[in-house]
Amino acid sequence: MANVNRWGSNLTFVLAMIGSAVGLGNIWRYPYVLYSNGGGAFYIPYLVAILTLAIPFLILEYGVGYHYQSSFTKAIVKIKPKLEVYGWILPVVVFIMTVYYSTIMGWDGIYLFLSFFKGWGADPNTYLNVNLLHSVDSLGGITNFLPFVAIFMLIGWFIVWIVSRQNLDEGLGKVCEIAVPLLFVIMAFIVIFSLTLPGAGIGLAELFDPDWSLLWHFDIWMAAFGQIFFSLSLGMGAGFTYASYTKDDVDIISSGLQVIIANCAFENFAALGVFSILGYMSLHSGVPVSQIVSEGTTLIFVAYPQVFNVLGIIGLIVGPLFFFTVYIAGITSMLSSFEVLSISFQNKFAMTRAKASLILCLIGAIASMVYATSAGSYILSIADMFVNNIVVILSVFVECIIFAWVFKADRLIDFLNERSGSIKIGKIWLFMVKYIIPILLIVIWVGGMIDIFALDSIEYIIVFAILGVILIVSSIIFSLLPAKTKEWFKTGERIK
Ligand code: PHE
Repeated sequence: MANVNRWGSNLTFVLAMIGSAVGLGNIWRYPYVLYSNGGGAFYIPYLVAILTLAIPFLILEYGVGYHYQSSFTKAIVKIKPKLEVYGWILPVVVFIMTVYYSTIMGWDGIYLFLSFFKGWGADPNTYLNVNLLHSVDSLGGITNFLPFVAIFMLIGWFIVWIVSRQNLDEGLGKVCEIAVPLLFVIMAFIVIFSLTLPGAGIGLAELFDPDWSLLWHFDIWMAAFGQIFFSLSLGMGAGFTYASYTKDDVDIISSGLQVIIANCAFENFAALGVFSILGYMSLHSGVPVSQIVSEGTTLIFVAYPQVFNVLGIIGLIVGPLFFFTVYIAGITSMLSSFEVLSISFQNKFAMTRAKASLILCLIGAIASMVYATSAGSYILSIADMFVNNIVVILSVFVECIIFAWVFKADRLIDFLNERSGSIKIGKIWLFMVKYIIPILLIVIWVGGMIDIFALDSIEYIIVFAILGVILIVSSIIFSLLPAKTKEWFKTGERIK
């Protein structure tokens, strides 16, 4: 019987991985991160982060996934059965992220719908915060349910369910083969269009105006490492899982490099488009770019609709294309983060893809309803902080130690080199994954925790505590539940 969890070709694997990497992080997050962290000067920490962290770690994560050809959890059990609880923690954290990711997808779905008739009206700011989200910055807002937002979030979950319930190559594989090239084509169109707008140069000059003094600030280094992590879906089991679905002859090293190049090219390209459009807006309204630019959500759902308003009839074409691009970028990422826990369920509890997808989509959809309330965007920012500042980096640190030291990354060198073309890994790579990356991760984690300790809000602590309990209790339960397959206990290794 053909394996239901195999990519049909290596190209599908690379496209799917690019689909996972290119997501909201590239369009919603990156342009502002680049702008607010020194503009052109940001490229120095950004490149350092790619060379020291992204390339070596990605090869490690993909390499171990490729070696075990199983879920992250099962691989951890094979490496050391006693570590099973940890093997669940990472997939559950990624699932928590998937749940809040579905919220932004829902908002984007609404804007895609509205963009056909500029339904946000003349004042997109009021529309977003007052009319649509009824935003309040307190947990009290949780009692005010927003059915319109909920419907669009459920549509996202429905799509994830429809795609992921099918055999891998027929569902996810096909979707990525079509969606990922399409994503690049539409984005190229939008960016080229934006570059031709009057005033584009004003925006680009503002974006790239380097503030070299910031290089001495710890924050911009943190921002670069954080961005690279999120944007490349690094360390979160997505790359691990996708690489585990490959056939036997894949060149993991070059595939990984292709993903990094495509992802980083995409986000920088997207930033050109975003800032050209902001430059146009600035020329049109006389307001400096620095006052128009804003962080992700406001950028996409306020600044962009404002621009589509002044673009007249053209806005009715570019607007839907833009929100559609964000949607495809987001859904291919959400599908990959969803896959991480789903395959662990399939492996341990002998579930079919269809069953694991149904159960997890139902849980995810129900849990996500917390965000379809007036407190939604407030809780989302707390959950994002919980995931990105507190748990992920620490958990990736543990992953790095387990892969590099307990599994022994040395073993991967020949295994990966044999299947690789001209690019080989060796001692430098090993040194990076054993020493440099764990140190970097701890420094980044401590930096992120300083922000957490600076918070002075009981509500943040309440949400952190709830998420922390959900994370730990569910991971313990999943690890204690008896496995339904004998496979689970098999230890076989492909390399010695
Ligand atoms: N890389 C995705 C983005 O840029 C986010 C993501 C992280 C997806 C981890 C899957 C796993 O939006």
